[in-house]
Amino acid sequence: MCGIFGIVTDKEQNLGPVLIEAARRLMYRGYDSVGAATISADRIDLRKDVGRVDDVAEKYKIAEMNGQRGITQLRWATFGEPSQVNSQPHLDSDGDLVGAHNGNVVNNVELREQFMAEGMTVRSQNDGESCVHAVERYIDQGKDFIEAIRLAYADLKGDYAFVIGRINDDRLYAIKKGSGLVVGIGDGFTCVSSDLPSILPLTRKVIRLEDGEIITMHSDRVELRSVTDGHLIQRDVDLITEEMSAVQKGGFDHFMLKEIHEQPQTAREVLHRLGSDPGVKGILEKITNARQVYFIGCGTSYHACLAGSVFFAQLAGKAVIPVLAPQFIPQYAPAVGPEDVGVFVSQSGETKDVLNALQAASETGMTCFGIANVIGSTLTRKTSIWLPLSCGYEISVPATKTFTNQVIIFLYLADRMGGGDGKALDDLPELIEQTIRTTGRQVEVLAPLVNPWNDMYCLGYGATYPIALEGALKLKEITYAHCEGMLSTEFKHGPLSAVTAGFPVFFVAGPEDTALIVSGINEVTCRGGRAIAIGEADKQLKVNASEVIDLPHSNPVFAPLLAVIPLQLLSYHLSIARGYDPDYPRNLSKTLTVD
Ligand code: M6R
Repeated sequence: MCGIFGIVTDKEQNLGPVLIEAARRLMYRGYDSVGAATISADRIDLRKDVGRVDDVAEKYKIAEMNGQRGITQLRWATFGEPSQVNSQPHLDSDGDLVGAHNGNVVNNVELREQFMAEGMTVRSQNDGESCVHAVERYIDQGKDFIEAIRLAYADLKGDYAFVIGRINDDRLYAIKKGSGLVVGIGDGFTCVSSDLPSILPLTRKVIRLEDGEIITMHSDRVELRSVTDGHLIQRDVDLITEEMSAVQKGGFDHFMLKEIHEQPQTAREVLHRLGSDPGVKGILEKITNARQVYFIGCGTSYHACLAGSVFFAQLAGKAVIPVLAPQFIPQYAPAVGPEDVGVFVSQSGETKDVLNALQAASETGMTCFGIANVIGSTLTRKTSIWLPLSCGYEISVPATKTFTNQVIIFLYLADRMGGGDGKALDDLPELIEQTIRTTGRQVEVLAPLVNPWNDMYCLGYGATYPIALEGALKLKEITYAHCEGMLSTEFKHGPLSAVTAGFPVFFVAGPEDTALIVSGINEVTCRGGRAIAIGEADKQLKVNASEVIDLPHSNPVFAPLLAVIPLQLLSYHLSIARGYDPDYPRNLSKTLTVD
């Protein structure tokens, strides 16, 4: 959700191509507008608009922009509609300061009124502009830049990061408060960004900022300061060794398809990692002795929590409460304490709804663990023990491989807690590979049959219920059709009335629940509906369903997980058939850092 990038070099030069490339590498976060500013000794060049990076870059000739410093920003609208004026970066009243932010300044409306009353020129509704005026206010009072940022920080409520610079100064300044910010140190330049993909092509040397830190960027060094009293902070430089190919498409048309195909390998990696991760023991000990355990997440990560709670009951005899993160605060936080355990699950580790719940839980003294993909994210820094999803970058907005690994982690923990050694999962990567191979073609045949429909249901029971919810979310997210995920037994309590000739209903069938699922299938087919079963080859499914997507034969405990793969592939093919870009669905963002 929004992304910022800033660079300081040692001389005036053509920075446009660097800014465009940095913006492209932040696109996975989701955006509706893009802008770039270059800063020279005596002038600022600012170009921005609503639209895709390449289109805005071409229209405004961003590649031709020159300067000694540059800032680019991708905006995902919160304050103010997507429009050119609300796009970022923003200028101050006189046009000699320029800055951009990522995040959410919650007192934006109040601040804008103050700025206008103080005679400043406020051009947009956007809260990024408020960050610039908040600094301008104190520069105009004669404060030096660091002091102005420190004072602005006190005025700007909410979670954000911003980068700002001005003419007649060869530096940029950035501050972090609640949103991610990483600094890169290169040869003859320094840069700062919301995330690593825009930094790694330029340099492997990075410094991760903490909340409440201000960075002054020179072309050959950076200075880190505390916002509280301005004192200098020493921080080691990290060397990133990960391959950049991880953030390329690797021969696939879309990141989503690549990430679906990476699942056998990422499953192998997480299982390998779990076998030796010392955190597993600590988490299991606490869960075993806890009064109550909660698995907490949003969207896809919540579906993994739901699956995890089924596995913990079935494999470990432990009842766990799965919770949608924002609901944890009103429904459970008042009743939990140090005897309880919460496992917070998030791909990005930056989802605000999850971090809010984590904050509320921590304040009660509850033991909080994390499961996250992005190492160094807020979730990994704020939990006592966390397990990495080990998926590498997931660029596509729809989560695929991270869901699979979230479920694998829960399966592994449940198996261990139930007395197993986790070895039962060793076949899983091979089965995932087989499922991708064998269901891929079946799904391509099925896609045109359901494509005419804009309403569908996806049903499951037991451990296939969360898989059905996840399949429905994928279908909604990238085909823009309405697909409701539901417990299969609930369908007859109301939605069955929607069934007409050909109406598609997906049934995710676990090997042990086939009889129950077959009843549901017949309730649909006898009314002319199209019941599409996803399950292991089974005579009952074959004779009763309209179509069956066959899954390979496997251990009944993890068979439900395999069913998510054809649902991911079907969503992908339907999205393409409808002319959409599955990697960047409209209105959505990969990392939701707002309430
Ligand atoms: O980064 P998180 O796992 O915390 O994100 C939570 C949801 O926003 C996310 O899972 C979302 O539902 C996915 N884009 C769905 O594919």
